[in-house]
Amino acid sequence: MNKTRRRVDDLRDLILHHQHRYYVLDDPEISDAAFDALFRELQTLEEQNPELSDPNSPTVRVGGAVAERFEKVDHQVPVLSLANAYGEEDLRRWRGRLLRLLPEEEQGLLAYVVEPKFDGLTVVLRYENGSFTLGATRGDGEVGENITPNLKTVRQLPLQIPVASQDGVAAATSLPPPRRLILRGEVYVEEDDFGEFNRTQEEKGERTYANPRNFAAGSLRLLDSSISAERPLKLWTYQTFLLEAEIEPPLSHWDSLELLRGYGFPVCDESRRFSDEEWEELVGFVTNWQALRQRLPYELDGMVVKVDLLSQQGRLGFTGKDPRWAVAFKTGGEEATTRLMDIGIKVGRTGAITPNAVLEPVSIGGVTVQAATLHNADYVEELDIRIGDTVLVKRAGDVIPKVLRPLPELRDGSEKPWKMPAECPSCGECLVRPPEEAATYCFNNACPDQLVRKVEYFVSRGAMDIVGFGTKQAELFVGNGYIQTLADVYRLPWEQIEELEGYGDRRVENLRLGVRESKSRGATRLLTALGIRFVGSVVAELLMEQFDAIGELMETDVETLGEIEGVGPKIAEAVVSYFALEPNRALVNSFADLGVDLATPHGRRAAVPDEQPFAGKTFVITGTLPSMSRSEAKSRIEAWGGKVTGSVSSKTDFLLAGEKAGSKLEKAERLGIRILSEQELLAGGAHMVQPA
Ligand code: IVH
Repeated sequence: MNKTRRRVDDLRDLILHHQHRYYVLDDPEISDAAFDALFRELQTLEEQNPELSDPNSPTVRVGGAVAERFEKVDHQVPVLSLANAYGEEDLRRWRGRLLRLLPEEEQGLLAYVVEPKFDGLTVVLRYENGSFTLGATRGDGEVGENITPNLKTVRQLPLQIPVASQDGVAAATSLPPPRRLILRGEVYVEEDDFGEFNRTQEEKGERTYANPRNFAAGSLRLLDSSISAERPLKLWTYQTFLLEAEIEPPLSHWDSLELLRGYGFPVCDESRRFSDEEWEELVGFVTNWQALRQRLPYELDGMVVKVDLLSQQGRLGFTGKDPRWAVAFKTGGEEATTRLMDIGIKVGRTGAITPNAVLEPVSIGGVTVQAATLHNADYVEELDIRIGDTVLVKRAGDVIPKVLRPLPELRDGSEKPWKMPAECPSCGECLVRPPEEAATYCFNNACPDQLVRKVEYFVSRGAMDIVGFGTKQAELFVGNGYIQTLADVYRLPWEQIEELEGYGDRRVENLRLGVRESKSRGATRLLTALGIRFVGSVVAELLMEQFDAIGELMETDVETLGEIEGVGPKIAEAVVSYFALEPNRALVNSFADLGVDLATPHGRRAAVPDEQPFAGKTFVITGTLPSMSRSEAKSRIEAWGGKVTGSVSSKTDFLLAGEKAGSKLEKAERLGIRILSEQELLAGGAHMVQPA
């Protein structure tokens, strides 16, 4: 508990420091993502430990400090913030909550407006009898800074509303001027304008800004508004706070945006309105926001989804500082901070040793991460990463999460430096770091961990592609001593395997068929599967175009190989030295004895293509299957001609559902999609499997 309290305190100090750099000095020291990561960690800790809450925590204040040099303004309506949704699941949860909170008879009226989340500086604008009287920054949400003179320099900001005419063109509406209007908008700078400004500043040797947002913020806070006037500031307005006017008040957010347009305010026309029936379309539009961002000349920071009807907004109200009726959707959040609990080491297929971070589990962009790579010993040493450190972790797309750096500011003295061990954790052999190499190796060919990795690679999709055979099986069979060389993959003791827990008849039968089928993958794949240094599938293909069988390749020399286009001396050397070793030659010969195809370049087809039972069908897999992992199921489906996608839509033909299937099952049922069990799946394809 004490530890948590200390951490919360440290995080608060650090966040306040960075907020000051960012908001007051316009001179950030860390990336937005790193800042967000710290902020989220604090938010999570405070949520989990309500007793540590503090009215002055940076998560309670809306953010941004009030600088001393401007006159302070009390906001008549508090300037609140938005809750974030990181990813699709969060967004769906938000809607789920709306549906729970709204009475049933109201749900039919539910509709949404989606708008860009502009990445600039929030401003609050006040109009009295149609005249612009006050413009303020958000400040802490209660008190802002009066920046009226600077705002007046923003060309798009109407000084009188309705705007009578623009460049001789009459305004679209003839509305009476409102008695009072308070609204909210964002002052921003286009990326090109920002780039050009920084270039000119650099030439003059004057200060540049970190990003368009800081540039906009800095320009609005200049004490001399004649300098602001020269800055390319622009404005979007997006939210009415208060309206007193002799007109029918708008009933929806959409209509209020229309009204603002009518008054002459800049309102972005990328916004869209969706009914609740169109929710799936909304999700598609929102999750694809990066495409919009690329098309627009200014920065976005996500999308904002708002409940359209103002009456429903009122009913939904607020939680703390955030309205329940709106949410900011972001995909960012690719980085997070967490604690490095330990550094483990992994022995690779080639014997290369990589240090791996064992992390306190943390959610990054909706995925729980508890391991990350640390590359090699130099990386750990150069960044001075210590066990116990708080580290910044990045996960982007499918790549392996990586530790970016430690945050030494958060150390309490208990952190321990790490050293690469002298001996292999798997076999105890001395580790070697060849001169000039960054990697450390275990050179013991019989090292069990290495063998597991070799088998894992041998059976993988790019190599022998053995369905039902993955990391788990590699570990199990090596661990039980069934596999001592790669050839043992074809000598597995099936009767013993049937005795193992979790290996029922059907499963063993599938695995057995997979192994048998793989014998006919052909020479190119077998050559790839051997895992010779520098010989991946592309090089294997080049080589097998020149030789009739692996046996021939085994007898060749460096010169002959070097003449093949695309095969350099490094590859030639690696191939020849691999086959110079007696155990490797024996291995290839055992494959031949076991009936593995060493000659046909691409092997025989395992299945008759026009009998593929799932050709052209799209599958989605959900839940826990009784005997297969999801990736096994995926390989099965693909082997039988089907396609596997991630989310259920009207294009889905089958949902393969296991235990604990959740929202995907519900959706598939709603759309009338055929639901299959694992057993049905296997039956569907059973007649297809032909022993090689
Ligand atoms: S609505 C009470 N709409 O994002 C709801 N905010 O992270 C008020 N922002 O402080 C916010 N674009 O400054 C809204 N289209 C948009 C926005 C937007 C940018 C800013 C706003 C807010 C911050 C919240």
